[in-house]
Amino acid sequence: MPAAAQGSARANGPVEVRLDPSRPGPVIDRHVFGQFAEHLGTGIYDGVWVGRDSPIPNVRGIRSDVVAALKALKVPNVRWPGGCFADEYHWRDGIGPADKRRVQINSNWGGVPEPNSFGTHEFMDFAEQIGADAYISVNIGSGTAAEAAAWIEYMTAEKDTTLARERAANGHPAPWKVPILGLGNENWGCGGAMSATHYVEEMKRFAAFTRNYNPAQREGAARMKRIAVGWDSDKLDYTEEVMKAWKDRVYSWDIEGVSLHKYTTGGWPPHLPSTGFGHDQYAEAIADTLTMDSLIAKQSAIMDKYDPEKKLLIAVDEWGAWLEPAPGSNPGFLQQQNSMRDAIIAALNVNIFARHAERVKIANIAQMVNVLQAMILTDGGKMVLTPTYHAFRMYVPFQDARVVPVAFDAGQYVNGKHRLPRVDAMAAKATDGTLWLSLVNVDPARPATFRLPGFASASGEVLGAPKVDSVNTFAAPATVAPRAVSARAKGGVLSIELPPHSVSVVKVMP
Ligand code: AHR
Repeated sequence: MPAAAQGSARANGPVEVRLDPSRPGPVIDRHVFGQFAEHLGTGIYDGVWVGRDSPIPNVRGIRSDVVAALKALKVPNVRWPGGCFADEYHWRDGIGPADKRRVQINSNWGGVPEPNSFGTHEFMDFAEQIGADAYISVNIGSGTAAEAAAWIEYMTAEKDTTLARERAANGHPAPWKVPILGLGNENWGCGGAMSATHYVEEMKRFAAFTRNYNPAQREGAARMKRIAVGWDSDKLDYTEEVMKAWKDRVYSWDIEGVSLHKYTTGGWPPHLPSTGFGHDQYAEAIADTLTMDSLIAKQSAIMDKYDPEKKLLIAVDEWGAWLEPAPGSNPGFLQQQNSMRDAIIAALNVNIFARHAERVKIANIAQMVNVLQAMILTDGGKMVLTPTYHAFRMYVPFQDARVVPVAFDAGQYVNGKHRLPRVDAMAAKATDGTLWLSLVNVDPARPATFRLPGFASASGEVLGAPKVDSVNTFAAPATVAPRAVSARAKGGVLSIELPPHSVSVVKVMP
């Protein structure tokens, strides 16, 4: 939370927001709007992949309605194939003729058969169809460095090697780009329960041998970014050990970032319902969400000790609401509804990432379709866009925008033991020079009036809903939907009134 957002007693008054475009801050990397698509439940199968022979409209097996919806979000990158699944994934199981692929058990997620019909070629096709970069997580937990190295060579080699020839024979002569590479996943837990020092020794070998051969990725910003596993909520040792090793690195290996995972749960195990909740469980989820700020600050402080120049980035490559499984669903499928509360959780998290834009340059919401805090829910041929989807679509102007300092008095919304900010605000200058503002009314009961001195007009959208637990369903898909925001100018001050529990993104003009 910005200093200006702390400790106010003002309850109902207008919130004055002052922007200072003369002091531009760091760029909000578009990659903080990344997503995560794991082989988990119906996230891939049904959610993205329906197969070439499906009656559901598809292009080469990938459902067209989902692709069209995701294109509107300008998804910068998709992390795949996991998650925990990544550390049991063997890439050769997912290439070649579909009917010859190995069927395995997805032991992490529901114990169901994993047909491997969606493999490297299908994932790359999907990423290309939605216009996203590939963020590939390699298997450190149960795989070898040689296996990971061969996979990256298979994807990126342009020269006439055995693996490049095999890729061509499987239908893709041109090398793909792999802009982001995850070196394992949660290796302190599902990824092999390794101590931090053990992980570091493994990670260094994987970092050294996973070579990207794509000539278009040899230099500058196009070079592949390797992300080591960092800490999860309360575990600090991974970040410390990774950074210590990085400081003393030798010429043969390097990394470009360290991950951080943080879910909104309200406490483990996840117990907050995704529907039918009131203000208490709303406040509990918001309070937990806001701890993202201090977690990033703690991880940044560790990184600063070894990397004061901020050469390495933080990838918050798993974040979002992890709630009670939807009634009647397979608990291993992590299916949950998505409400107005989720949209507010998304907005608050992204605003926190923007405040840490100097370090946080990649983030991936968990997950894309049908799993956890999803953008999209599907059921057979039906599809519905969630409140989180709408928040992401509204935030598109912030991709690669430059942070503009914003001062405001956040006030307080109190619920039981939770003393929360009543409002939140974040501002940035978009790549086309226009000035954008995110305004969040966290308070579930009171509208909020924002006053912007020096501005004459605004256009944009507000995402609101009848209740904090309002959801979109296949039968009622537009209960939570954006509408045009209304703003009034008087005496050199622009006023924007937001309903309770709402998110707004507006372009403001002097
Ligand atoms: O997103 C679900 C799971 O959460 C991921 O597989 C794992 O990395 C994390 O614990």
